[in-house]
Amino acid sequence: MMNETIENTRITVQPVTKSRINEVDFDNLVFGRKFSDHMFEMVYADGKWGEPLIKPYEPFQITPATNVLHYGQAVFEGMKAFYADENTVHIFRPDVHHQRFNNSCRRMCIPETDFETFIEALETLIKLDRKWIPKKAGTALYIRPFIFASDDLLAARSSDKFTYQIITSPVGAYYAEGFNPVSLTTTDEYVRAVEGGTGEAKAAGNYAGSFLPAKKAKADGYTQVLWLDAKEHKYIEEVGTMNIHFLIGDTLVSPALTGSILPGVTRRSVLALAKEWGLNVEERRISIDELFEAYENRDLKEVFGSGTAAVVSPVGLIHHQGKNIELDRDKPGEFAQKCFDEITGIQYGRREDTFGWVHKIGI
Ligand SMILES: Cc1ncc(COP(=O)(O)O)c(C=O)c1O
Repeated sequence: MMNETIENTRITVQPVTKSRINEVDFDNLVFGRKFSDHMFEMVYADGKWGEPLIKPYEPFQITPATNVLHYGQAVFEGMKAFYADENTVHIFRPDVHHQRFNNSCRRMCIPETDFETFIEALETLIKLDRKWIPKKAGTALYIRPFIFASDDLLAARSSDKFTYQIITSPVGAYYAEGFNPVSLTTTDEYVRAVEGGTGEAKAAGNYAGSFLPAKKAKADGYTQVLWLDAKEHKYIEEVGTMNIHFLIGDTLVSPALTGSILPGVTRRSVLALAKEWGLNVEERRISIDELFEAYENRDLKEVFGSGTAAVVSPVGLIHHQGKNIELDRDKPGEFAQKCFDEITGIQYGRREDTFGWVHKIGI
């Protein structure tokens, strides 16, 4: 079987001589700790991308002067592959993830990549490492494509050399013990991103800058920060690794993509479903004051986050300047649950994929 895979791709494949799969406890998967046997790599130098390669996952050498270590010129993606049956694996919306990957590259002055190589790399990796795809309900193979500046260059300008890699990691069910409602707090002290900055790119530095505020929020007893806009400190943007949605009356309100918010693939899917189901959908600016007002008027029905990791995360509490919105959710609201059931149903092949979101791979 392995030879078949190698012959069918233009990607050079160097298979492992010995799999590390026995090191993995598939009953106790910890997010992002174990990596499948193979990885993809392609290097950009002399103005063009080189030959694609799949090789054993292993450490590699860089010098202390490597550009990314100093200036953070790096982008990444986060997506998942799902075990559908013994012959089929589903990747969720790889086209949209790849578009976002290229958008991130453009903003970070990194050369774009082509979709054909991306999808061929994913198909080849998944076939080679098919034993790494967990099978239990709710589990998945997390896929992390990334590109970083790999020149030896201690000058604060764009690198001329880049390394593009894709690694994969089996991940457990996000909600193995039931849904965990998250509690969010705004902060007056920090902002995540500003229009014109890098917030809508999936750029490494966006995350580094959010770790301190996230740590402080945790120390104060909240799960994550609910980011407000950087200019007026008034409009709701998003959460650490998820977009946010509000069901107000019978309208689903999601903060508009103003340039400082990451355009989530799950967000896009939630909004498409809501429209399909005939709900009023508004992508617009929504202020924290409007949210408190809707809560006080009892119009605020549901609050939930959306992201690749959890699909939907019910929000139980929002804290802002000494006041709380308390929804006391130990499970998602009716609408968020419906989104969760539909999206996961499509991902695992239990529901019809009427939108064409799933890319099927025969294994
Ligand atoms: C900052 C941020 N916002 C939102 C999301 C949700 O995006 P997606 O639904 O594509 O996972 C993520 C996760 O990737 C994120 O890192």
